[in-house]
Amino acid sequence: MYKTLLATLENGIFTITINRPDKLNALNKDVLAELNLALDEMGTNPAIQSAIITGSGQKAFVAGADISEFNDYAATEGKKLANAGQDTFFKIENSRKPIIACVNGFALGGGCELAMSCHIRIASANAKFGQPEVNLGLIPGYGGTQRLVQHIGKGRALEMMLSGNMVDAATAYQYGLVNHVVEPEALLPTAIALLQTINSKAPLAVAACIEAANAAHNPALNGYEVELDAFSRCFATADKQEGVEAFLGKRKAMFRGG
Ligand code: COA
Repeated sequence: MYKTLLATLENGIFTITINRPDKLNALNKDVLAELNLALDEMGTNPAIQSAIITGSGQKAFVAGADISEFNDYAATEGKKLANAGQDTFFKIENSRKPIIACVNGFALGGGCELAMSCHIRIASANAKFGQPEVNLGLIPGYGGTQRLVQHIGKGRALEMMLSGNMVDAATAYQYGLVNHVVEPEALLPTAIALLQTINSKAPLAVAACIEAANAAHNPALNGYEVELDAFSRCFATADKQEGVEAFLGKRKAMFRGG
């Protein structure tokens, strides 16, 4: 069905693999468009509980936006491109179902931005992160200037953006950019194990955690009010009743997503 992605669904986990290994999985227009379709599928298919985004091959997660599309672009086209990228990555960030980036190699430019828009990042030991747009006379345009500051702080973010230097997986872990660093063969199993745990929780509570955490970095919202609202909504769910009764009855909760 997809031309630039591989998509599989197993045990509620939707694995989206960006599949242009000969171009280090660079994000061209087709990939962005298909990522949008895959995210729509994720939103509407009740069998999908959570997702993994990764890259094809051993070398790259995503080595950035496809630079070959930039040559003829002036300001108007550049803005249109960044708008499309920002919208796609907002869709990932605001997904009600959790998404883990499995960073299996280079995560540069739009690749680092893609990983940062996911809810959790797990890196293989050979992963490298960077925002090298400055080498092209550009800056990150898919939300990277904002999310990198949120994730690792302004000083470190500016060092990466101004120098274009890459950081290795160990440094990314030390910066707090990734949650875990594992050997390449453990990358997908680690993400799957974590998602199996998350998938066993109440889906509406999972969605509410994402919504409230995202509000922390949205200047248009009062995060504490978003939290209050989400907390009280959870109290009205059957899954809250099930969770509390199961705890009090010393049995395992069986959540149904209502
Ligand atoms: N856009 C388009 N094509 C890209 C790309 C990108 N962002 N990144 C890599 N590719 C292509 C290369 O052009 C090459 O294609 P070719 O075989 O048809 O010539 C192929 O992927 C392999 O890349 P190559 O540069 O030969 O691999 P390498 O191991 O020597 O270097 C990188 C790896 C990641 C250091 C290097 O590819 C690179 O710097 N890429 C650009 C990173 C970047 O600036 N990203 C931000 C974009 S805004």
